Amino acid sequence: MKRFAGRPAIVTAAASGIGRAIALRLHEEGARVLAVDINAGALAELPQSDNFRIFAMDVTAAGAPQAIADECLRHYDGIRVLVNNAGLGNCPPFHETSDADYQKWADINQKATFMVTRAAFPALLKSKGVVLNIASTLGVVGYRRQAVYSMAKAGVIGLTRNLAADYADQGIRVNAIAPGIIATPQTEGRLNTARFYATIVGTTPMGRPGKPEEIAGAAAFLCSDDAGYVTGQVLAVDGGQTSSAYISDALVQCWVDAHPDQ
Ligand code: NAI
Repeated sequence: MKRFAGRPAIVTAAASGIGRAIALRLHEEGARVLAVDINAGALAELPQSDNFRIFAMDVTAAGAPQAIADECLRHYDGIRVLVNNAGLGNCPPFHETSDADYQKWADINQKATFMVTRAAFPALLKSKGVVLNIASTLGVVGYRRQAVYSMAKAGVIGLTRNLAADYADQGIRVNAIAPGIIATPQTEGRLNTARFYATIVGTTPMGRPGKPEEIAGAAAFLCSDDAGYVTGQVLAVDGGQTSSAYISDALVQCWVDAHPDQ
């Protein structure tokens, strides 16, 4: 079943991790994909064809949002799907965040999402298209040492809900995915330490990091007509991390040890 047969789709930050998996999945399901990334070398390694084009661009650069929309229109004569995936985690702690740091993390995580969507919007209105924003569970719940990132991703969720309400009557759907810890180059350094891996297991009911392909599966659903009545939603794809105050086996054992008679 080719759910995106012939549909033009833009995916930002598509040369690696989650964006790459989404771009490949949409293409596999028939989309004509424009894969955008700042890393021209990594982009060039993607399988290219008339229906899978690459565009090297920094989404935060002046003029980039319009250039991205124009590039998609030039090749595919429309925009039906926009996936705003560009984002950067691992910001400095709040008290060490300089003005330049603030700008850097706010620009890529939040401003670029706003600007690229705005540039693509006339074409999306025409096609009655869909927008999918890749937020984060850190935009939904509090977390330590991620102030600007959390703030920016919460802003992305706010934009998602606002646009969904504002443009539903014009046939546009806007949703977000909040990934938990996903094994990508962005998290590789941490996941490779036994201590960090153990905390994932200890705080996530499913006991493992997610795979980029598992985000891509949810993304394909939300961008497809199968989600035709879904808008303004934030789907956590996080192994259950934010759905519960998860009690690890070690903590359960503490309870058992403390109440030997029960
Ligand atoms: P990644 O590090 O695997 O890939 C990021 C890609 O973004 C790279 O190809 C890089 O070249 C590109 N990029 C960086 N700056 C750019 C710019 N200014 N313009 C265009 N492209 C740029 O990252 P990952 O993990 O796949 O993350 C993708 C999205 O998912 C981000 O928005 C991130 O915040 C979000 N996310 C990731 C989580 C994870 O655990 N990996 C968890 C929650 C959210």
